[in-house]
Amino acid sequence: MNLLFNDVFLKACRKQPVPYTPVWYMRQAGRYQKEYRAIRKRYSFFEICRHPEICAQVTRLPVEKLGVDAAILFSDIMTPIKARGIDVKLVEGVGPVFSRPIRSGADFARWRSLDVARDLPFVLDSVSLLHQQLEVPLIGFAGAPFTLASYLIEGGPSRNYHKTKGFMYAHPEDWDALMSDLAEMTLSYLIAQISAGAQAVQVFDSWVGALSAADYQTFIAPAMKKIFSGLQETGAVSLYFAAGAGHLLKEWNKFPVDVLSFDWRVSPEDLVTSGITKAVQGNLDPSLLLAPQHLIESRAAALLDQMQSRPGYIFNLGHGVFPEVREEALQALTRFVHHYSEQKENDKETT
Ligand code: CP3
Repeated sequence: MNLLFNDVFLKACRKQPVPYTPVWYMRQAGRYQKEYRAIRKRYSFFEICRHPEICAQVTRLPVEKLGVDAAILFSDIMTPIKARGIDVKLVEGVGPVFSRPIRSGADFARWRSLDVARDLPFVLDSVSLLHQQLEVPLIGFAGAPFTLASYLIEGGPSRNYHKTKGFMYAHPEDWDALMSDLAEMTLSYLIAQISAGAQAVQVFDSWVGALSAADYQTFIAPAMKKIFSGLQETGAVSLYFAAGAGHLLKEWNKFPVDVLSFDWRVSPEDLVTSGITKAVQGNLDPSLLLAPQHLIESRAAALLDQMQSRPGYIFNLGHGVFPEVREEALQALTRFVHHYSEQKENDKETT
């Protein structure tokens, strides 16, 4: 390993001692950065993904500009879906939109399966290139079956997921077939990213908090267990994220996954009372990034005061950075978390 390699993030994911609390931000590469906006003027989203040099440049931006302790591959949860020949567009300000949403099992029965080396060679090339360039770990990622299915069935973003949940309740066999198909795709895609050099992988299940814990257990947990069991065999670190899913944390704690995300609706005390034993990442409300710096920092300090004594804590937001955020706010926050947590570790040693 490169002697300059910063493995603080990986150590925290494995609940090992760290000299300070590692930081990264979900959606840390994107439109809030002027360099990104300049690149996007010249290339479409998927053009960036298809060119490893540009993809690597965009992925490195937050490491270089913010000083975060991990990079996340620049891509989208829809990349493998698109690579299977399914028509999806990323509409600015909206998100992924499908021209032919799934209405029945017949609509996906004949989809060709994903062969990562054949269908997404540029992703693997980007990962290998970043593996050589970065001095922090690279997080690969994929969407989880429920969250992917929600876009595939609704045809785009949704507020309440009625069509998705309706399909799940009305056609349980088709639903299971869809979950199996997507779980297999997600697992093979993540394993390929790990083989190419990603030291960690995050599964984004952004919208699964729309389900009750009982329905999650029946309709979703089998697919997630399959994904995390497969990942466990690789030895890479695995992370799981959903928004508004505090009621599912206890279920997740049983999975063979290393790190669980929690958002601002869940307090550090809730983690203790729910008996969460895994490493965790979170949970600053991204809206706070629009507040004055002293408020951002006092909330971050309060979070560190509650979380830092726990083995396995990674500082993050409860959900992604959005375009209106000022880059300076994230720069200052990263510096603050590093200094404040390092000071606390040093104080611990001297007392
Ligand atoms: O920096 C990073 O986090 C890596 C890149 C990344 C993107 N999307 C880039 C992107 C990651 C990890 C994602 C994951 C993703 N994509 C999720 C899960 C995370 C979450 O926020 O819950 C979801 C639900 C999607 C689907 C999606 N794709 C949405 C909601 C959007 C935004 C739509 C908009 O215009 O506001 C996209 C497009 C997208 N993905 C953008 C970026 C930087 C912006 C579009 C652009 O630059 O053209």
